[in-house]
Amino acid sequence: MSALSELNEEIRHCQKCELARYRNQVVPGEGVENADIMFIGEAPGRNEDQQGRPFVGPAGKFLDELLDLIDLNRQQIYIANVIKCRPQGNRDPLPQEIITCRPWLERQIELINPQIIVTLGRYSMALFFPQKSIGKIHGTAEKHDDIIYYAMYHPAAALHQQNLRETIKVDMLKIPQLLAQAKNITETEKKQEIKQMNMFEV
Ligand code: URA
Repeated sequence: MSALSELNEEIRHCQKCELARYRNQVVPGEGVENADIMFIGEAPGRNEDQQGRPFVGPAGKFLDELLDLIDLNRQQIYIANVIKCRPQGNRDPLPQEIITCRPWLERQIELINPQIIVTLGRYSMALFFPQKSIGKIHGTAEKHDDIIYYAMYHPAAALHQQNLRETIKVDMLKIPQLLAQAKNITETEKKQEIKQMNMFEV
């Protein structure tokens, strides 16, 4: 079993907060373990809670469409959520639930080690872009400690506000360019490391 599968198994047994009493299934996340891109949503909804898988309802259908726009599919990325259990009645996650659940997400990020983290919606954005507003920063990226963080609206937002559909698509279409930049930086850094090693050998 890989370290990530072991971690997700541990998450499936989590009893750290009240949500454990109401959930049907924990939704740790899914995708490829060494994905270049990790998408982070908010919390499981009703469908996710029933199936134990992220983004399997209407928002997930739109997410699949968005991935398709940039020739990606779920077998090439990783999808997780800020909190791993469904809040009753789909209410917003509470601050304490987010704090309690955060170490799980941090460990997933460490193991997956993505080049880009795409935050979907304001709860996910708030973890990595504190004090920012989604209306202002969607479609923009920041780099910290070798990871590019990219903020997008939550796909579910487009289900309630049709006019956001186009905005979300436009933001999605910027991801390939970001990935190319990330790979370029990694390649350049690798070349520099090799150069430095060669200098030491001389
Ligand atoms: N919305 C989310 O934020 N995550 C899911 O997994 C499903 C819907």
